[in-house]
Amino acid sequence: MFDNSTINLEVLKKRAYNLRWATVPEGVIPLTAADPDFPCAPEIAEEISRFTKDRYFCYGPPDGLPEFKESMAGYFQKKRNIPASPALILPVDSAAFGIYLTCKAFLSAGDQAIIFDPVDFLFRYSVESAGGIAVPFSIPPGITAVDFEHLEKLITKKTKLLCLCNPLNPTGKVFTKEELLMIGDIACRYNLIILSDEIWSDIVYPPNVFTSIASLNEEIRNRTVTVSGFSKSFGLAGLRIGTVMASHNHHYKLLMAASLHNATIHGANLISQIAAKAALDKCGYWLNSFLIHLNVIRDLCVNELNRVPGFKCIAPEGCYVAFVNIEGTKKTSKEIQEILLNSAKVSVVPGLKEWFGEGANGYIRISFATSEEIMMEALSRIKKGMTGYPKVV
Ligand SMILES: Cc1ncc(COP(=O)(O)O)c(C=O)c1O
Repeated sequence: MFDNSTINLEVLKKRAYNLRWATVPEGVIPLTAADPDFPCAPEIAEEISRFTKDRYFCYGPPDGLPEFKESMAGYFQKKRNIPASPALILPVDSAAFGIYLTCKAFLSAGDQAIIFDPVDFLFRYSVESAGGIAVPFSIPPGITAVDFEHLEKLITKKTKLLCLCNPLNPTGKVFTKEELLMIGDIACRYNLIILSDEIWSDIVYPPNVFTSIASLNEEIRNRTVTVSGFSKSFGLAGLRIGTVMASHNHHYKLLMAASLHNATIHGANLISQIAAKAALDKCGYWLNSFLIHLNVIRDLCVNELNRVPGFKCIAPEGCYVAFVNIEGTKKTSKEIQEILLNSAKVSVVPGLKEWFGEGANGYIRISFATSEEIMMEALSRIKKGMTGYPKVV
């Protein structure tokens, strides 16, 4: 399922946007946005075909398709040990919107939200778009002890939201139960809402184990909004589908009101909801094989990247991105991105503030959700492209 023969580059070149195949010059391998090169599980496409055959595309329920909410609640109960209720799960048109919606529901103008640094740009962007102020909390790549004292020092009377990204894109950190208990305890003591973005929670490499912060205890759960999505684990980015889950009715109502779903201004589309339901109900086998494949590519990628002079890469615990320290090349991440694009014909994401925050300075991010052949070709080009750096002066 995950060998080179399953990848259809002709289709990807027409459909894969967001810095990927459809946007790069011919011949360039885009290891940019974290979106798999593989087609989704066949059961998902079959379910979409079945649905479309009826030729009815009516308005759906503003708070989401009941059968999808049921499947999602079952997933949280079985896989995440959370006593989830379908009534508190709101399907939304992407995890990205879920992050923004949570910020919109819980932040007033001038309120502060703590975000990790480095972290995906969506956090700062969402906090600021909702009128809030993003306060970065440093969690450097390879960190062995999270500085909880520092986290507490960042909290002011204006702090309302603590934004978790677990597993953490771009560093691949998977938070331990003990770390999550510390974070949860701080949120309880300072009366903060926890936004837990868990879109990467299915992409975790053994022996690391994923824990949902909402599973820890009732007190922590009651202040947590969990954001989930289907772009990473099932390759459904273009369907724009995700969920936000509250733990009680009051928070659910705030999310629902902020969503504008009742006014039909926003809403998760029906095709995407039945596709996501099929993913949960029928495609566990596909996800398991994907993970086995990713484990192999991760090791290959990390080994090869560490052989590039000036590059250092720690194996991610989760996510399918390698976050590579390039300081040994004596070049900036933007310069490395340009060298790789021009001389290696490989496109990567530079560690700029606008992508991942100040903490990404000196790094590049490489997505590896592709075949072994494409990855080997990209890595060999990277090695050749970087020959001569750092320059001997
Ligand atoms: C941490 C994180 N959250 C959310 C998203 C966005 O997911 P979606 O495609 O569902 O909007 C991404 C995508 O890269 C991500 O890495």
